[in-house]
Amino acid sequence: LRVYVPPHPLIKHWLAVARDAATPSVLFKSAMKELGRWLTYEAIRDWLPTIETTVQTPLAECPATFINPEVPLVVVPILRAGLGLLEGAQTLLPLASTYHIGLVRNEETLEASCYLNKMPEQFNPQTRVLITDPMLATGGTIMMAMAELTKRGIDPALTRIISVVAAPPALQKLSSAYPGLIVYTAMIDEGLNSQGYIVPGLGDAGDRTFG
Ligand code: PRP
Repeated sequence: LRVYVPPHPLIKHWLAVARDAATPSVLFKSAMKELGRWLTYEAIRDWLPTIETTVQTPLAECPATFINPEVPLVVVPILRAGLGLLEGAQTLLPLASTYHIGLVRNEETLEASCYLNKMPEQFNPQTRVLITDPMLATGGTIMMAMAELTKRGIDPALTRIISVVAAPPALQKLSSAYPGLIVYTAMIDEGLNSQGYIVPGLGDAGDRTFG
């Protein structure tokens, strides 16, 4: 597993806004959208497929690189909180399809369960997937999302996860199951409290986004 924490002032700024308990829901949503945009920008550098060709400028022919429109691109937001990052991701990936997955954590057992899955039975194995979920805590949720994708033919090496705060237990689970996977996060936080919340974290991102 490779985990990148891009050293970008806009990412730090919007993380600070999102962490602040005094940030109202309207601004929290904006922070999620901006984090979605900048983390996606970082995550797709070595992920977006390109093709080499030439173009004719008004003066001469020259080499040119385009995004390859034939390789399928998919964004998978993990409901609900992952929807906050989706809009920013979509601005950079207008041609990507979106497949929603709804996962919720039981507040006592912390076990994730799935209440919505709009994925096809099988993906084209060339499909590149970007998963959005602002919080990787115990890792139960992201592991379930990865299992749903890989059993439908998705290659973890072509998958990127963007998150806002990631905790060590989730990163350890991902690392043992998917060594080729790459995560982009605004911060790796210390750990979890007894209720399974990331500390210092940003509280409950789903509730703060949707009120
Ligand atoms: C939160 C969060 C992550 C998940 C992380 O979702 O948005 O998806 O918990 O926890 P885990 O790593 O321990 O599984 P929640 O269940 O609160 O649902 P919501 O997004 O609808 O609020």
